[in-house]
Amino acid sequence: MTSPIPFVANPHYRFAGEWLAALRREMPNECIVPLNELGAAAKPESRFAIVINPLPEDIRQLPRLEWVHSVWAGVERLVADLGKTDLKIVRLVDPQLADTMAEAVLAWTMYLHRDMPEYAAQQRQRRWLAGDYVRADNRTVSLLGMGTLGEAAAQRLLKANFNVCGWSRTRKSLPGVECFAGENELPAMLAKTDILVCLLPLTAETKGLLNAEKLACLPPGASFINFGRGPIVCDEALRAVLDDGRLKHAVLDVFNVEPLPADSWQWAHPRITVLPHCSAPTDRKTASAIVAANIRAYRETGATPAGVDPVRGY
Ligand SMILES: NC(=O)c1ccc[n+]([C@@H]2O[C@H](COP(=O)([O-])OP(=O)(O)OC[C@H]3O[C@@H](n4cnc5c(N)ncnc54)[C@H](OP(=O)(O)O)[C@@H]3O)[C@@H](O)[C@H]2O)c1
Repeated sequence: MTSPIPFVANPHYRFAGEWLAALRREMPNECIVPLNELGAAAKPESRFAIVINPLPEDIRQLPRLEWVHSVWAGVERLVADLGKTDLKIVRLVDPQLADTMAEAVLAWTMYLHRDMPEYAAQQRQRRWLAGDYVRADNRTVSLLGMGTLGEAAAQRLLKANFNVCGWSRTRKSLPGVECFAGENELPAMLAKTDILVCLLPLTAETKGLLNAEKLACLPPGASFINFGRGPIVCDEALRAVLDDGRLKHAVLDVFNVEPLPADSWQWAHPRITVLPHCSAPTDRKTASAIVAANIRAYRETGATPAGVDPVRGY
């Protein structure tokens, strides 16, 4: 008889029940129990738990916990909430999520590449004016972040004939992609970018990374897509380059505050497309299957999946 698996979801999270059902479907031989239903005797026995934005005080109810499996790919909130801890945080690495994000990157790159915001604006003014066509192989799309999501996006963009650059902390080598690494090489990549796509995690280093100085490195007329996290870009600096037209358009899926408050300037800015954090939703079924496989491996061998590096923050 294996020990029950605590399921610790934030009390405000609306889809905890759906997640519990999906996880139970993928682990029919496990007993997955919401924290508030876990017996007093089981709590001190638990070595790992499945978590969804848990409250730190809920995690503290499980004193012998060694690792937690989040169902999200981005875990900056969990890292911040738990603070300094020995607990290993395992995030979701799901090829399905990478595929969904790659599709979103291609879709919104095409939106900018084929000047859709411009033509939509012209239609509202009953204006008939065809711009010059630019071939995809004359555009450079640069990815900030070349991890699981960035690499999948790069492959899609290459297939669609774009020139692709990628930036990461450590240098990558990816056929067909011009790779840049570290802060020193970022300005050079930005300078040759037509469409910049952010797929970075939010960490102490990436917070505010895209400030006025960095945005000024982009050539006039470049566009920006943020699918990473809102605080990576300085809102005021972004607003300034959009207001004066140096940045042609920004597609924003992530914000400092979500949902984006109704009085936020981004909603009505003519050069912004607002998306409600929908670029790559987690697929409950594939994500649950991955959590299940990781737990199965742990039960069989004692091995835990790779965790978030507490120093790097991702
Ligand atoms: N909008 C959405 O719907 C949505 C959905 C899922 C995820 N996300 C976001 O996407 C992020 C990335 O996910 P992932 O699975 O691709 O993460 P990942 O595999 O950990 O990759 C992160 C990438 O960012 C790079 N990086 C991190 N800090 C850096 C720094 N200071 N300077 C330069 N590069 C840096 C890493 O460099 P190294 O390769 O050198 O380590 C790596 O290439 C998540 O953290 C989450 O915030 C958004």
